[in-house]
Amino acid sequence: MVVLDSKDQLSNKVKALKAKNNKIGFVPTMGALHLGHLSLVETAFNKTDVVVVSIFVNPTQFDNTEDLKKYPRTLDKDVALLETLSKNIIVYAPSIQDIYSNNVISESFSFDGLEHQMEGKFRDGHFNGVGTIVKNLLEIVTPDYAFFGEKDFQQLQIIKKLVEKNHIPVKIIGCKIHRETNGLAMSSRNTRLTEAHKNEAPFIYKTLKEAKRKFGIESAGKVTKWVTKEFAKNNLLDLEYFIIADTKTLKTVKRKHNKNTYRAFIAVYAGKIRLIDNIALN
Ligand code: PAF
Repeated sequence: MVVLDSKDQLSNKVKALKAKNNKIGFVPTMGALHLGHLSLVETAFNKTDVVVVSIFVNPTQFDNTEDLKKYPRTLDKDVALLETLSKNIIVYAPSIQDIYSNNVISESFSFDGLEHQMEGKFRDGHFNGVGTIVKNLLEIVTPDYAFFGEKDFQQLQIIKKLVEKNHIPVKIIGCKIHRETNGLAMSSRNTRLTEAHKNEAPFIYKTLKEAKRKFGIESAGKVTKWVTKEFAKNNLLDLEYFIIADTKTLKTVKRKHNKNTYRAFIAVYAGKIRLIDNIALN
């Protein structure tokens, strides 16, 4: 396994591998790897010969400086974890300078409205930051396939749109959410939860599952009210939003149509830590 910190070295390495007909997979991450990331890498190996894993805490996608400062950075541990999976992994762990030169700013994107829903409403500039780094990384890595978790479902849809609109020659693969045995969606931010918040956080998925059951028999509006009330009774978790949205447009559902598919999306504060999750409803 090799660890590279320069985009020139990385693209030379990838060129050489492609010349020998290797298929390249790509798993972009911000590090603090957990089993969810490892499962993305394993899925990548089902389709590709060599997997590039980028580890880069991207400053332009953070709207909260404290969150950026405290985001866990555990490069040595991450590399050791990846080493247990395969030797055909290339870790790309660049500096801010390697990615942004001296210009740490986002490009401005239109994702046909997907960016104005949910996370886009609550995290100012977030998807311009994500679009900027993912476009940049895809251009550096030039993978055949890139793998993203469905925990960030809105991000996944936006990246598919980014690739389509910019004609980037890569296939984007969405992968199922990896959960702890208690149901909590795996996230690098979980390591920052206090013991009390960690014990309470499975309430999020429990509520999503019950919302799914209710959505089979009740309107989106009623289910949303029920979820809001459940969280109002919870002293440890603060609901930022719960939204039932159309899977394609990500717009809030007013009335259900049999031919459409829906998903419930949630963002919750557990103390200072912001957690997101979602569930397919039909
Ligand atoms: O999902 C993430 O970890 C990040 O948003 C990503 C895709 C690595 C871009 O920084």
